[in-house]
Amino acid sequence: MGLRPDFLWGGATAANQSEGGYNLGNRGLANVDLVPTGEDRAGVSAGKIKMLEFDDQHFYPAKEAIDMYHHYMEDIQLFAEMGFKTYRMSLSWSRIFPNGDDVAPNEEGLAFYERIFLELRKHNIEPLVTLTHFDVPLTLIKNYGSWRNRKMIEFYENYSRTVFCRYKGLVKYWLTFNEVNMILHAPFLGAGLCFEPDEDEEQVKYQAMHHQLVASAAATKIAHEIDPDNLVGCMLAGGNNYPYSCRPEDYAKAIEKDRENYLFIDIQSRGAYPNYALKKFERENIHIEMENGDQELLKQHTVDYISFSYYASRVVSTDPSVTHETAGNIYKSVKNPYLNSSEWGWQIDPMGLRSALNMLYDRYQKPLFIVENGLGAMDVPDENGYVEDDYRIDYLREHIKAFKAAVEEDGIELLGYTSWGCIDLVSASKGQMSKRYGFIYVDRDDDGNGTLKRSKKKSFYWYQKVIQSNGEDLA
Ligand code: BG6
Repeated sequence: MGLRPDFLWGGATAANQSEGGYNLGNRGLANVDLVPTGEDRAGVSAGKIKMLEFDDQHFYPAKEAIDMYHHYMEDIQLFAEMGFKTYRMSLSWSRIFPNGDDVAPNEEGLAFYERIFLELRKHNIEPLVTLTHFDVPLTLIKNYGSWRNRKMIEFYENYSRTVFCRYKGLVKYWLTFNEVNMILHAPFLGAGLCFEPDEDEEQVKYQAMHHQLVASAAATKIAHEIDPDNLVGCMLAGGNNYPYSCRPEDYAKAIEKDRENYLFIDIQSRGAYPNYALKKFERENIHIEMENGDQELLKQHTVDYISFSYYASRVVSTDPSVTHETAGNIYKSVKNPYLNSSEWGWQIDPMGLRSALNMLYDRYQKPLFIVENGLGAMDVPDENGYVEDDYRIDYLREHIKAFKAAVEEDGIELLGYTSWGCIDLVSASKGQMSKRYGFIYVDRDDDGNGTLKRSKKKSFYWYQKVIQSNGEDLA
């Protein structure tokens, strides 16, 4: 009983939300740099407001973020002190290929990540690396239209081959695209797509999805060729949809909504477009341009494991009188009357994590990895930066109990758990620093003021104990 002895406990961050150093070390710009805080953020993220240059009216939090670019040694030291077995991070594509279509990579960028991996290894921390956590080099957006263009597959292959070769022996666990289904909900933030007023957005998004899925399969193939020990996973923005009522129409709607997400993983894990998607495309007049060889590639190079983020469950209803909505990860949901919500309206549902694990395992029968989970909350530090964050501990404790039950009682194969934003970082949906997830407090506010000083919260010591006991001591 209990979790496997080599269970990978740790935490997760993304380059664009933590690294900063946007113009250092020959790095090129990317979509993620150009998403400002404030009321335009949602429109820019959705590709409705085109923002391909910085302007003076907006604040762009990713430029400096929490400056991990200069603080990574100190941060890794703190992760090691908590006992991390793994650290999930992402590479900034434009730090390695500043324009995306460059012939040669940027040595300074490659060397930067190499130093990080060596430092992690020194502390026996296994890196878990996302190739693209939303970022697309800006030149690829301006000159090629981002993922709507098939040429992106070539650039992504080149990028992935470069990093698989360079970090061979240093990195074993890879993820191709963070929250690959986010392309449907935040097409610019998630995939660099912005739209012209007369464009058929659904057509563009699904064509771009196809290119990403082919690129993901190609990267999986290359990873295995370069090092058969490499393990490549997909990454889903998870959380299932509940029917608001037991009306059969609501249940059918919930299945349909879940399939919008499963579609991506069905292809990445089972290797083919499912019939329900082909029928949907037919009905909605979406035509996906494929080339010879795409289907074989998808079939032959499926992922080794399934990873996902889980913050909340969702609710759907077909009844127009059900209008009470609440916020969720990027897009809204009907409010679940049985659940409490975070300060940002995300519905707190530990049991939903156990259900999500079961549904994914039933469907794919591959090892699972929870690579994001956590509570975004408003912390109030004392004069030393210490935060008494019992609310965060409560949230995490209940979710850990839920995944332990999925392992111990349902027999789910679970590789590990990396809680999101193990150190405070910039929020993806809001761009705020004040939406904090970390065990480590970072002194920086929503306008970019602060010393960037790191301090341990109460949850730091709690998580240390959780890891030390392999999840047995959750008190
Ligand atoms: C996921 C992303 O959507 O959720 C992360 O992979 C993001 O990048 C996380 O930060 C939490 O969302 P938010 O909007 O609270 O930062």
